[in-house]
Amino acid sequence: MGDLGLIEDGAVAVRDGQVLMTGPTASVRAQVEATQEIDARGRVVMPGFVDPHTHVVFAGQRADEFEQRIAGATYMEIMAAGGGIMSTVRATRRATTDDLVAQTLPRLDAMLAHGTTTVEAKTGYGLNVADELKMLEAIRRLDGVHSMDLVPTFLGAHAIPAEYQGRADAFTNLVVEEMLPAFAPHVTRTPPLFCDVFCEDGAFSLAQSRRILERARELSFGLKIHADEFKPLGGTALAVELGAVSADHLVCTPPVEIETLARSRTIAVALPGTPFGLGHQEYTPARAIIEAGGALALATDLNPGTCYCESMPFMIALACRYMRLTPVEAIAAATINSAHAVGLGEVVGSLESGKQADILILAVSGYQHLGYRFGSNLVEKVIKRGQVVLTNDGRQVRQLTAINSPSDGHQSPE
Ligand code: NIG
Ligand code: FE
Repeated sequence: MGDLGLIEDGAVAVRDGQVLMTGPTASVRAQVEATQEIDARGRVVMPGFVDPHTHVVFAGQRADEFEQRIAGATYMEIMAAGGGIMSTVRATRRATTDDLVAQTLPRLDAMLAHGTTTVEAKTGYGLNVADELKMLEAIRRLDGVHSMDLVPTFLGAHAIPAEYQGRADAFTNLVVEEMLPAFAPHVTRTPPLFCDVFCEDGAFSLAQSRRILERARELSFGLKIHADEFKPLGGTALAVELGAVSADHLVCTPPVEIETLARSRTIAVALPGTPFGLGHQEYTPARAIIEAGGALALATDLNPGTCYCESMPFMIALACRYMRLTPVEAIAAATINSAHAVGLGEVVGSLESGKQADILILAVSGYQHLGYRFGSNLVEKVIKRGQVVLTNDGRQVRQLTAINSPSDGHQSPE
């Protein structure tokens, strides 16, 4: 994580949507005859961000809960009173697949504009077979129509729905006996179809999480877990024991489980937008994880409750400040490590020959501007599979400046 493989005055050659070669511009030019060039002089060229944990597909909104939380209610109190996740479940159950697609598209557009080129998307607001499958269908359709790649995760165990209130074991049976088999035909190899569980007091106990993840493993799902967000229930150790691809949140993970995690292949996914969004002071102990030898990735956790934020660069800014990552570590965590966290480490997440040509051009002269600057968008161009899919050159603003002060010498760069 301490080395970005930086090339000064570098070039990337792309063919058929894949990276053909990277290296010093002179050497790439000597070996490749370009039919089309994009001039990125004075800019940062880097891999697109991979956002490996989101709840981006949902209907409705919960801005009113933000007001309640600012007035003192906690996230889990709002959920216990029938709001929170359950409020989004009601809206999502009422929505058609078309509604879900339409409501999610603007969020995907905002993610792409901030440089995300691959995004994991969870179900988890249906909580019955039909509505969970409807969410999967929405994810598949969005993957088809949007330039970003979407990696689906089944999160049928996100909350106990109202009709199972007080009967968490019965709902766990439904997940194990009906939902997982209904999703099993959709299991793929690269990326795997993931199964995730919200292991938390007020959601799923450690024993219930184990039952669900063990069954998912038998059915060849990749495994993920929401662990140690508010209370440490042992979810991180469970993830390691079952060979989960990632364990996510890890805000209050006990030191012994950090050691266990660090010795394993399970990736820690930190979601700094969530404590920030909740106004909490505790963040994932990233330094302890990295220093113990663990692999750390960053994600937005984009969701209507705890963190409505589409921006991976903002996660980098938070990670540098509150988790003490260096900008280099944070960039690695948001690209190559997050690609591994969704089983795509050999396909995306770095600019290497044979990988997908998912490339960002940032309107800044050095990578350190990521983390340092926040609240504005530094992404100038997004290239997906070798095609420019988004340009944000701020031209309007520059032209207005020029009109207002014609003598200041301020010029458009081209
Ligand atoms: O990762 N903690 C559980 N799930 C989400 C929040 C989902 C919601 O509030 O709608 C999370 O923070
Ligand atoms: Fe989450």
